[in-house]
Amino acid sequence: MIKPLRIVFWMVTLYAGIPASVQAEDGYELWLRYRPEPEAARREEYARFSAEVLAPDRPVAQSAQRELHRAFGAIAPGTGGPAAGRILLGSRSDSPVIAAAIEETRLARLGPEGFVLKSGVAAGRPWLVIASNGDSGLIYGAFTLLRRAQRGLPLVGLDLEDAPTVAVRVANHWDNPHRAPNFRNESIERGYAGESFFDWKALPGTVDPRLRDWARLLAAMGMNGVMINNVNTAKRGLEGWRLLTPDYLPKLAALASVLRPYGVRLSISVNFFSPILVGGLTTADPFAPEVKEWWKAKTAEIYAAIPDFGGFLVKADSEGEPGPMKYGRTHADGANLIASVLAPYGGTVHWRAFVYDRAKGDRVVQAYQNFAPFDGQFASTVFIQIKNGPLDFQVREPVSSLLGAMPRTNQLLELQITQEYTGQDKHVCFLAPMWREVLDFDTHARGPGATVARLMENAVHPGTRNGIVGVMNTGNSRNWTGHLLAQANTFALARLAWNPTATTAESIAQEWAELTFGRNPLVVRTVASILLESRGAFENYTSPLGLNHMTRRVDHFVPDPIYRIDHHGATKDGVGFDRTARTGSGYAAQFAEPWRSRYENVDTCPEALLLFFHHVPWERTLRNGRPLIQELYDRYYAGAAAAHSFVTRWEGLRGLIDEERFEHVLERLKQQAHLADGWVGTLVPHWMEFSDTDDEKARPVPQPHTRRYVAP
Ligand code: GCU
Repeated sequence: MIKPLRIVFWMVTLYAGIPASVQAEDGYELWLRYRPEPEAARREEYARFSAEVLAPDRPVAQSAQRELHRAFGAIAPGTGGPAAGRILLGSRSDSPVIAAAIEETRLARLGPEGFVLKSGVAAGRPWLVIASNGDSGLIYGAFTLLRRAQRGLPLVGLDLEDAPTVAVRVANHWDNPHRAPNFRNESIERGYAGESFFDWKALPGTVDPRLRDWARLLAAMGMNGVMINNVNTAKRGLEGWRLLTPDYLPKLAALASVLRPYGVRLSISVNFFSPILVGGLTTADPFAPEVKEWWKAKTAEIYAAIPDFGGFLVKADSEGEPGPMKYGRTHADGANLIASVLAPYGGTVHWRAFVYDRAKGDRVVQAYQNFAPFDGQFASTVFIQIKNGPLDFQVREPVSSLLGAMPRTNQLLELQITQEYTGQDKHVCFLAPMWREVLDFDTHARGPGATVARLMENAVHPGTRNGIVGVMNTGNSRNWTGHLLAQANTFALARLAWNPTATTAESIAQEWAELTFGRNPLVVRTVASILLESRGAFENYTSPLGLNHMTRRVDHFVPDPIYRIDHHGATKDGVGFDRTARTGSGYAAQFAEPWRSRYENVDTCPEALLLFFHHVPWERTLRNGRPLIQELYDRYYAGAAAAHSFVTRWEGLRGLIDEERFEHVLERLKQQAHLADGWVGTLVPHWMEFSDTDDEKARPVPQPHTRRYVAP
C-alpha cells in the first residue's frame, strides 16, 4: 500500500526572501543541504513534481519518503499549482503506475539496491517514479534524485538508472565505547573531529537526534553496513572488548534500530580473546570446543536482539591485539571459527590483514606473508580486509601486494577517510585522486585488466565476494569532520564505493563543491581546484618521491625525520628504503609482472615511488635531469607555495560563501600554509645536513615546524 505525505509549507516562510549565500551555516547538514532553488522556473517544476510523495508503508521506503518530503519542502516550497503531480516510490508490485512505467526485466537487472528514476506526464500532471525491487534501492534513488535537484537539473524527461557495482560497502568507525576515567586517549582512535557521538551512557533510553542524522548520512553515502567501534579492543584504559558484555546489548540494539530504517546493518569490532575477557574461560583457542560454544551462545544472544546484525570485525595478532597465533593456530583457523557461528544467521567476519610484528623487520612485506599462503582456506563468509597500501595510509604508497593475490578468498579494500597521516583536521588533502589511482591499479592477477576496482566489483576472481570499506572521519564537532573541506573526503569515499570504475576525482570534487557551496561557477571552480591540487601539494611539502612516515610516532602529524630513519633510510650517501628482492626486503617480488620487474629496477621504478623501493644516492639524476636532492628541495618549496595559493584563491570567494563557513575554511587554510612552511623549515636543513648539499637556489629557509603544534 502506498501512503501519501503532503508537503508542509513552513519552509516557505523560513526561506522567503533570504538568498542562500548569506544564510548562516555551520556545516552540520554536510552536502545534504536543501536550499530554495534559485531559478524560478526550475523551482516551479520541482514544486509541481513533488506536491505529493507516495511510498509503501515499509520502514526504508518511509525514510526515503521523509527525506524527499523534507528536501523538496525546502528546495521548492509551494503547492505545485493546478497541475500538481507526484513522486511515487516502490516496486512494480507496489503500484500499477510503476508497473506501467518500468519494465520488469530492467528492474530485475538492477538488483535490490539499484533503481530507476523516470518521469512523465499523465492527464496534464507530472509524475516521477523511483522504482526498485528492494527498499534500499528506493532510499539510494531518493538521495540520487535529491543531488540532482540540489544542482538544479531538470526532472522533465528524466529516465536514468543506477546500481552499485560494489556489493559490500561498509563504514568503519574507530570510536571507543569505553574510556577509563582520566584516561587521556581520544574517544575516537585517530579521530580529529571532536569526541565520539555515541553516547553509551544515554543509550538505549535516549537516542540523540544526531544519531538519526548519522544513519541518514550513511544511507546518503550508499553504505549498507557500519562497524561502530575501534579495531583496537584490547588497549588498557579503552577496553573495547566490553561491547560484548550484557550491559551493551540493549544499547547496540537501539543503534541497530536507528540504522535499520536506512538499510544499514550494524556490526562491531570484537576481541579474539572475548571468551576469556567476557566469558571468563581460561582459553580462547579456536580449536577448544568450549570456545566455539561460547561464541555460538554469544552470537545467538546478539541475533535474538538484533536479527539483522551484520557480524564481527577482528584485528588479530597485531599491535597488541590477541589472536589465534597465540595458540599456534592460523588466521584462517581463527576467522573460520567465528564465521561458523555467524553464518547460520547470515552474518560475516571481516578479518584485518594489517598484521605485522616489529621484530620481523620491514612490515611492508608481512601482510602478504601472513595471508597469501592461506588462500583457499578461509570460509566463504570471511572477508580479508586490506589497507590500500602495505604500510599505513600514507599520502603515497604502492598498492598492497595482497590485493588480488588470493583468488579464492573474499577481499575488502580498506581506505582511510580520517586523515591520520594526511594532515588530520588542519590540512586540506582531498583523497579522491589517490583512491582513484589505487582503484585504477592493474594488479595483473589473472593477467591484464585486473584493476583493484574490478576486483572489488567481483569481476576478477569468480566466486569471490568483495567490497570497499572506509574508516570514517566523523565526530561530534558541529560540522561532523572538523575541517569543513574534509567532508569532501566523506563524499568521495561514498561515490567511489558505489561505482569505483566510472567515477572521476574531478566529477566528485565538482559535485561536492556545488552541493556544499552552491552553483556559482567561480566558487565551484575554485573549490574543486583547491581540492584536486591538495593531495599533490601535501605530498610535495611532506614526503615526495616515495618518502613516507616522516611524522612523529605518537601523533602522526608533526614532522620528525630524525626519529624516522628506519623509514626514510637516509645516510651520508643517499636516501630511501631498499625493498628490492636482490638486495632489500623483497616487497617488489610480491607483485605480479610487469610490476615486479618495474619496481625491482631503479631505472624503471615510477619516480613517485622511487624512495619507497630504492636507496639511491643524493646526486642521482632524475628523469627531469635534476639531482635527487635538488628535486626534494624544489618539491618542498613548490608544495608550500601551493598551500599559500589556496589561501589567496579562497580569499577570492569572500562574499560568495556565507561568512561562517568562509571564515572557518580561511582560518584552516592559513594555518595549513603556516604548517607547510614549517615542514619546509624542518626538512630542508635536515637533508642539507645529511647530504652535505645546499639548495642551489639558496632560498630562505622558513622556521621549522614546532615540535608541539598548538593551534594559533
Ligand atoms: C595505524 C593507526 C592505529 C590503528 C592501526 C590499524 O597504525 O595509527 O591507530 O589502530 O593503524 O589500522 O589497526
